Amino acid sequence: MKVAIVQNPEEGSRLAASIFIDQVKQNPKTVLGLATGSTPVKMYKLLAEACKAGTVSFKDCQSFNLDEYLGLAPEHDQSYHYFMKTQLFDHIDIDQAKTHVPDGLATDIAASCQAYEDAIKAAGGIDIQLLGIGSDGHIAFNEPGCSLACRTHSQVLTQQTINDNARLFFQGRVDEVPTQAVTMGIGSIMDAKKVVLLAFGKGKQDAIAGLVEGPVTAMCPCSALQYHNDCIVICDEEAAGKLRNKDYYKYIFSQTGVSNA
Ligand code: PGA
Repeated sequence: MKVAIVQNPEEGSRLAASIFIDQVKQNPKTVLGLATGSTPVKMYKLLAEACKAGTVSFKDCQSFNLDEYLGLAPEHDQSYHYFMKTQLFDHIDIDQAKTHVPDGLATDIAASCQAYEDAIKAAGGIDIQLLGIGSDGHIAFNEPGCSLACRTHSQVLTQQTINDNARLFFQGRVDEVPTQAVTMGIGSIMDAKKVVLLAFGKGKQDAIAGLVEGPVTAMCPCSALQYHNDCIVICDEEAAGKLRNKDYYKYIFSQTGVSNA
């Protein structure tokens, strides 16, 4: 695992955007794995700017998002369909028919999850997966205690996740937040060829310490990424606050940059 400790979210977003742009330039047919949340917003703006400037084109890319709330229609302003459309897809040249977000309204959830896994496989797998991280160590909506091998599935959200996300819902109300989601599993995420995880702010300190320095445990689902062969963690000084080997990671990054961990 490679750890890039940056001064601030701006610098981290620039670094992440440059990794994605390089990847798409290298392989215009890249299968993108995308994430929602407040963390990637700036990076998505940078991708949109680069696309507008003609630096990169996503017209031959496909994308798969990590998760969606169960029970929210794509038009709901807190659905992840809506987030992706307004934060990224409407501002780049990707063919929106080739963008995929799990179906939060599926009546047969198991079949819908299997179809999502099949679609990723048919696309040739995810080339580069963007991740945020929850304060409880979740990635996508894989909450503490989930199987570290799980595939796309429905997940009951923890109270901590519901509380963390309430700020985005009507009047910040906890009872407005759906209690379940459909999410790619840890096993699905581990299959991505490359993983880029972003974390900013003090609230992510414990999760980042668990992710990078372990132990590997279902109580901190992101820690499974220690078994990923090409994972870069981009975090700001605040999120890196509880890393024991911070200076060592900084030294390695200063020597090797973003190349494979
Ligand atoms: P955030 O969410 O980017 O809004 O902090 C991250 C997550 O819960 O995965």
